[in-house]
Amino acid sequence: MTLKSKLPKVGTTIFSQMSQLAAQHQAINLSQGFPDFSPDPLLLDALAAYSQQGFNQYAPMPGIPALQTQIASLVQRCYQRTVNAEQEVTVTSGATEALFVAINAVVQPGDEVIVFDPAYDSYEPAINLCGGKAVHIALTAPGYRINWQQVAEAITLRTRLILVNSPHNPTGMVFTPQDWISLQQLVLKHNLYCISDEVYEHMVFDGAPQLSANCFADLAARSFIVSSFGKTFHVTGWKLGYCVAPAALSAEFRKIHQYVTFSSFTPAQHAVADMLAQQPQQVSGLARFYQHKRDHFVNVLHASRFTLLPCQGSYFLLADYSAISDLDDVSFCQWLTKEHKVAAIPLSVFYQTPLTARIVRFCFAKQDSTLNAAAEALCRI
Ligand SMILES: Cc1ncc(COP(=O)(O)O)c(C=O)c1O
Repeated sequence: MTLKSKLPKVGTTIFSQMSQLAAQHQAINLSQGFPDFSPDPLLLDALAAYSQQGFNQYAPMPGIPALQTQIASLVQRCYQRTVNAEQEVTVTSGATEALFVAINAVVQPGDEVIVFDPAYDSYEPAINLCGGKAVHIALTAPGYRINWQQVAEAITLRTRLILVNSPHNPTGMVFTPQDWISLQQLVLKHNLYCISDEVYEHMVFDGAPQLSANCFADLAARSFIVSSFGKTFHVTGWKLGYCVAPAALSAEFRKIHQYVTFSSFTPAQHAVADMLAQQPQQVSGLARFYQHKRDHFVNVLHASRFTLLPCQGSYFLLADYSAISDLDDVSFCQWLTKEHKVAAIPLSVFYQTPLTARIVRFCFAKQDSTLNAAAEALCRI
């Protein structure tokens, strides 16, 4: 028997492929987006303590109240928006689950969803599984800015949703206030919904304002706003995230969430709630922490033949290698891993129609010693 695939074009993700190749060749892995340093010991102690104290059974479906309350306080602190913790905040098993559930809550068969390439790889399969169609708008180097006129022209009677991601993986582009205003205008004018993927929300650099769909009331009223404690607290393996959405949208979201995971890892919810309550500086200091890493990595790569692209936020840096090689970016990344022992991600995999640009993505959420070792190898090329 052959099962008819619902995702015929999907294979093993490039992230798994590159991490595997990095391990095989003992290369420094700057490909997949996760830190190689430890989270705060307080967080680890809290996780162990809650588990030992018996918090090991199913959490309430929308999240434990203490964490919902802390998320509502965080939204208030960062964006001055008051949300109802009980009705508008849902804890999920990573941002990936929140994105999947939000897409499933909105998209009906035949609906179109506007996504911006380069795009995070989980969006399109989720849209396709609902019978929807992703309409791709390609953003280009060096700034990867959105042309909102082009977006307006891509909207049809079937468009139901716009999916945005700021700070942006993989380009490090961050929305300006005008980007948010333009998005809000289109969403209102065409009666659309928005999913705002804000997993890097606390990593905005160079004193730029940290903005969110939460800051724009009319947009927030039609948005599912998604974030990830994996990114914020350096614990990507805990897969803990959340979705903030108005009560009516959250109610639909929860109908699906309850049958996808029902609830998320209980002791981690308690541990993260404590961190948010007792260590707010961990979140507010994150931009400075990662800006230092970006600056350090940029400095140590200064002598290399890569041309570095601007990075305004997130923990990714794009680098143009056209001065080094004529290889396409997938072949270049394989060569880089095998010959120079540094793994990166080719940019083309984030596009529906790959561009010919010679650009790769490095993750700088690494110890300075890792970044130094990688830079030494990269500068030798
Ligand atoms: C843009 C973006 N969205 C969502 C996610 C998924 O987050 P999580 O690990 O919390 O599922 C990632 C992870 O890399 C990401 O880069």
